[in-house]
Amino acid sequence: MRMKIGIACNVKPLELAELGMEEDPPSITAAGEDAYAEWDTAATVRAVERALASRYDTVFLVANSGFAEKLDRAPVDLVFNMVEGLHGAFRESLVPALLEERGVPYTGSDPLTLALCLDKARAKEVLAFHGVPTAPFCVVHDEAEAAALNGFGLPAMVKPAAEGSSKGIFDANCVRDRAALAPKVRELLRQYRQPVLVEAFLPGREFTVAVLGNPPDRRVLPIVEINFNDLPPGANPVYGYEAKWVWDTPEKPLNLFTCPAPVDGPLCEALERAALDACRVLRVRDWCRVDLRLDERGAPQVMELNPLPGILPDPRENSCFPKAAAAAGLTYEEMIHRVVDAALARLG
Ligand SMILES: Nc1ncnc2c1ncn2[C@@H]1O[C@H](COP(=O)(O)OP(=O)(O)O)[C@@H](O)[C@H]1O
Ligand SMILES: [Mg+2]
Repeated sequence: MRMKIGIACNVKPLELAELGMEEDPPSITAAGEDAYAEWDTAATVRAVERALASRYDTVFLVANSGFAEKLDRAPVDLVFNMVEGLHGAFRESLVPALLEERGVPYTGSDPLTLALCLDKARAKEVLAFHGVPTAPFCVVHDEAEAAALNGFGLPAMVKPAAEGSSKGIFDANCVRDRAALAPKVRELLRQYRQPVLVEAFLPGREFTVAVLGNPPDRRVLPIVEINFNDLPPGANPVYGYEAKWVWDTPEKPLNLFTCPAPVDGPLCEALERAALDACRVLRVRDWCRVDLRLDERGAPQVMELNPLPGILPDPRENSCFPKAAAAAGLTYEEMIHRVVDAALARLG
């Protein structure tokens, strides 16, 4: 008998109808233009379904208020987890925690790792404790702390501590002017209602490293470099919200990525070592994408880990995990199967 895999996902509200599914009003209460930036498109979840269907029976488990009942009605052998959630710093952990509680195995990292990686500041604390290179930083919790930032070196990068898909990370979050630092931090505190991470701005090249599998079979896919030459004149070298979702359009695509990245042996090794060490100390499972940037001395520093990496199926779009997989000679379908294979090997 074929195994049955449930594809647990959040699909952008306007695209649910494309899958023949209805919107679920209770989960659609967030406001703001970037509220659903992390959620998957119908095309993405359909591509995952198509990939899995070659070996497994599949069912969609849309992660809205009826998720637990859906799981009870349609028991599955494994969940392919791509749930981003909507509210709060534990939004990615909710579904995996529920699956843990019910004893349903799933792909990817556990609730603790997902929550830690979503909180970039906490993740950096763990990385720093274990000696994994990451830029100097401080965390601002309220407006009084924002006023006391005067000693922080500039330029600085200011970001909401627990967002993804560059929500709250705009070109103007690179602060070069002392007078602008506290106001920018206050603006983010008010808008995103969470601590703000203030980080030394890393001036060097930027890379993202896709990691697949678990030790001892964990491997690094070809490294992707982010290019900033195509950004509008005067823009900071930041792969943030505008670069991801505004400036890069199908009509006028930007040349943002090079894969494999042109890196010499020692740099390649240093990037891979930092990415693998980051995955180890944060107990990542099955797959992850690690974002890094070089400091002024050319040393790689880990910015953040994405244990639920974006996997837009159209190779012209901005998902780096599929790009790295393609450079390794894997089709989209093979890439999805490698994730499931990693989970099944781990689960024994
Ligand atoms: N400390 C930093 N120095 C330089 N650029 C940064 C720094 N932190 C973030 N960035 C830029 O902002 C982008 C988005 O930040 P990141 O922490 O990866 O968040 P996310 O990808 O979740 O939006 C990075 O890809 C990078 O271009
Ligand atoms: Mg990132």
